[in-house]
Amino acid sequence: DEISIGIAIGKVILIGEHAVVHGQPALAMPFPATKVKTAIYRKEGSLTLDCFFYNGFFSEVPDRLLGLTTIIRDIVNSFDEKLEDFRIRIESTIPPERGMGSSAAVAVATIRALYDFFRQPLTKEDLFKWANISEKIVHGNPSGIDAATVIGEEPIYYIKGKSFIPFPFKLDAYLIVADTGELGKTQAAVNDVRKLIDLNPQKGRSLIEQLGFLTRNAKDAIESKDIVKLGQIMSKAHLILDKLGVSNDKLNHLVSVAMRNEALGAKLTGGGRGGCMIALAATKDEAIKLSNKLILNGAENTWISNMGVDGNE
Ligand code: PMV
Repeated sequence: DEISIGIAIGKVILIGEHAVVHGQPALAMPFPATKVKTAIYRKEGSLTLDCFFYNGFFSEVPDRLLGLTTIIRDIVNSFDEKLEDFRIRIESTIPPERGMGSSAAVAVATIRALYDFFRQPLTKEDLFKWANISEKIVHGNPSGIDAATVIGEEPIYYIKGKSFIPFPFKLDAYLIVADTGELGKTQAAVNDVRKLIDLNPQKGRSLIEQLGFLTRNAKDAIESKDIVKLGQIMSKAHLILDKLGVSNDKLNHLVSVAMRNEALGAKLTGGGRGGCMIALAATKDEAIKLSNKLILNGAENTWISNMGVDGNE
């Protein structure tokens, strides 16, 4: 039958997660090694939704899909169309709840597919607006960095509430992403950081400011193509994230495995308390070696990206 397709790619936060919620900058880049595809088919009857953990009626979806179903309903209403006679199927290679932008990418792919299905023109502003409505329902009060990176499809220097600045760098270096296999706990980690700041403002604010300082330094290091310095900055950021209470044993373990195996730097990425870590390597051989070591030492999965040089892999 008639099919509309929407695609969106994953993202990784290079540096600045958590601090970005409190007004500091963060750097994030798209991660084309992971993708979401939403397909919409014409089908008589009630609307159904099919993804890897749910297959059933739209009206009975589990809580974690409520952000998505809310925007689907509101978008279809905004077109004066009815929520029936089609079927939505979502396929994804982005591991969910690992800080890789899965929820934002699912929303973006689905919004794109819906606009195509109803032959409506889609602006970036509308895409960002709808994706953030979905993200807010799923995540509480997100900074918006995930949706911005997934939509922009280029690296960004992001400050919450400001228009985001594309930062399209190319670096002759490799980024390894390793999945701890544990679900990230972004919301709990974000809440606990806020509690820390409320209870001990001096300590909390100082840690957030140090992260902001490191993010600005990371931007400088990238601009001067100093990957050794960038690696050192990433490792420093990990220590501060750990002090903020958003790391955990498995993340710390994989970070030290990476550092013992000659990574230029390593840190958790995204919300933390599980999810993924990232490591920086100077060459492809080193990246492959590091990725093997991470798997041998407990990573559930790894991906390698060449940071924009000769196209992403
Ligand atoms: O876990 P993720 O990929 O959703 O990243 C969260 C990033 C935080 O800075 C911790 C939260 C936010 O809203 O920016």
